Amino acid sequence: MVTVRAPATSANLGSGFDVFGAALSRPADVVTVERADRTTIEVTGVGAQYIPEDPEGNTVGAVVEALDAPAHIHIDKGVRPASGLGSSAASAAGAAVALNRLYDRGYSREELVPIAAEGEAVVSGVAHSDNVAPSILGGFTVTTTDGTHSVDARVPLVVCLPDVAVSTRDARRVVPETASMDDLVETVGNAATLAIGMCRSDPALVGAGMSDPVVTPERARLITGYDAVHDAALAAGATGVTVSGAGPAVVAACRQGNRQRIAAAMLDAFAEADIDARAYQTRIG
Ligand code: HSE
Repeated sequence: MVTVRAPATSANLGSGFDVFGAALSRPADVVTVERADRTTIEVTGVGAQYIPEDPEGNTVGAVVEALDAPAHIHIDKGVRPASGLGSSAASAAGAAVALNRLYDRGYSREELVPIAAEGEAVVSGVAHSDNVAPSILGGFTVTTTDGTHSVDARVPLVVCLPDVAVSTRDARRVVPETASMDDLVETVGNAATLAIGMCRSDPALVGAGMSDPVVTPERARLITGYDAVHDAALAAGATGVTVSGAGPAVVAACRQGNRQRIAAAMLDAFAEADIDARAYQTRIG
């Protein structure tokens, strides 16, 4: 039997749409696997009632196929589905790491990223790796068609999760098909700033680099109260704020010692908009 803790993740980080990802110190899924002749899946924890246990429809089914590793799989969800915190990716990543160990398949962590991404495709329709990569590798990750690069960044964050669901499929429909040259230049500048900030674990640069003129403004419209939450976090001292993944979670980069104040401000702003929410004081790691 093998048990693996698979962290939640925040993809995109504003300027890095479908490229950047970060592992969060909390919340996390816990995946336990045991050898079996036939695969069965049991799901417990947050939002378990929304997750299919049929291997055909579950994110880990494709991972089992890819590794030829039938097993009894127990997923204890700490990461709520449809949250923007890489819920399906955490389960797929945890299963990939656990099954690789259980069956001694010998894949490196980097090689497991595209295998876990196949599981993502079952849920979102696209085998994007910007959530599975940080869940498997930890830290800050940059995923391109050539592979994944990671750096062991340490940056405090607040993630505020409103009590509404946004599906990744819906949130991908509002992504603009084109961007102007001005927006492209701004985005590249911000993304490069953020990447340097991660290499230095510098919250000011990370926050500044989260700004994104193309995708985030469209997705923010799907989140009631987003503008107020964004402004409240900045007023409380956040260095940058953006939509986490496809939303509805909102992520704020923070300086050390400031997370509690920022979390309270974000929760108040959601409450003003009549939205229940919970805040995680977390960090990249
Ligand atoms: N990069 C993906 C998106 C992540 O933003 O659609 C989804 O969690």
